Amino acid sequence: MKCILIIGQSKLIFVQNFILSKTYSSVNSLYKKDHGKVAFAAPSNIALVKYWGKRPIQIPENASLSFTLSECRTETSIVYKKREVNGSDFLITFLFEGASKPSFEPKIHTFFDRIAPYCHFLHDFEFVIDSKNTFPHSSGIASSASGMSALAMCLVQIEHELGAGLSAEERKEKASFLARLGSGSACRSIEGPVTIWGEHHKIEGSSNEFAVPFKQKVHPIFENYQDTVLLIDKGEKQVSSTVGHNLMHGHRYAKARFEQANSNLEKLSEVIRNGALDQFIEIVESEALTLHAMMMTSLPYFILMKPNTLEVINSIWKYRKQTGVPVCFTLDAGANVHVLYPEANKKQVLNFIKTELAEKCQNQQYICDYLGIGVKKM
Ligand code: DP6
Repeated sequence: MKCILIIGQSKLIFVQNFILSKTYSSVNSLYKKDHGKVAFAAPSNIALVKYWGKRPIQIPENASLSFTLSECRTETSIVYKKREVNGSDFLITFLFEGASKPSFEPKIHTFFDRIAPYCHFLHDFEFVIDSKNTFPHSSGIASSASGMSALAMCLVQIEHELGAGLSAEERKEKASFLARLGSGSACRSIEGPVTIWGEHHKIEGSSNEFAVPFKQKVHPIFENYQDTVLLIDKGEKQVSSTVGHNLMHGHRYAKARFEQANSNLEKLSEVIRNGALDQFIEIVESEALTLHAMMMTSLPYFILMKPNTLEVINSIWKYRKQTGVPVCFTLDAGANVHVLYPEANKKQVLNFIKTELAEKCQNQQYICDYLGIGVKKM
């Protein structure tokens, strides 16, 4: 439970679990502005220790750790304007790449419903949200992490402009909290280059409600660490993450899996400090395969990997054995493969990808990304 007393604009504002009191609201004509525009770019992230299994509302069953990316981003702007008459509904227009996209609006309404208790102004303003992704449409790259974190950061910024009085650090924390309510993994995209979400007894300040940046020194080997995303299958997933998470309820191996993830997180935190790449590779690949093993052993069971996912994994293992280059893979809830390696090995690995792995990608497509620091104001 968090309870901070902030004294600002001669008003007392209580922040209790991110609920700001209405003292800054227009009920007392206290909004500092009646219109404005905000814009943020938020990156995607790739989990190394996976979040798979949650309980209401969006509380993870184990702690997860991710690398924040740079190039795969969502850029969102929101124009907000005070409503003539406030109401219990929301007035939202959603544009995707500048064009009306009514099919996305129900998702945004559901998100607004969920976060309204923490953002009272949502009922008092109308919003035009314009969003675009820097990565190709239907690339099989989930846009929920970057999309929800960009949206959450914009909303917190609006609240700030209206006079909520949170510090920059508190705003990021609240954005992570709100993003989590939209999509769990999204909370890890606000900051970077390494973030942790979920309570863990060895990680000070860790929380189930929002992600925290990895506070210790990250070993220089991980600086600009590369993630080349191989687009193996760009089709719609047969099973959504939400359904997959729910299948962990009553899963025969759930308890052991959650313990394993927390133990891997502890080991990986040490590796991120000391740069031991052998251990890094072992933990990261084991996490990826365990995630998919959970899918294959749930009821109903399912497989998201494709034949080329396995081909690529085998090629990476062979290449690593032959060359000693510390390249490894991870997977998210899909068929695409994230190829991870130090910046120092970029030339060799990109050559390997071009000559041996690209042909296993749909239309030979892959995206070169690397570690980043999180959301940016535009
Ligand atoms: C396999 O965050 O997409 O990528 O909370 O239901 O939106 P929801 O799920 P989501 O799950 C991500 C699962 C994962 C692992 C991870 O990112 O930790």
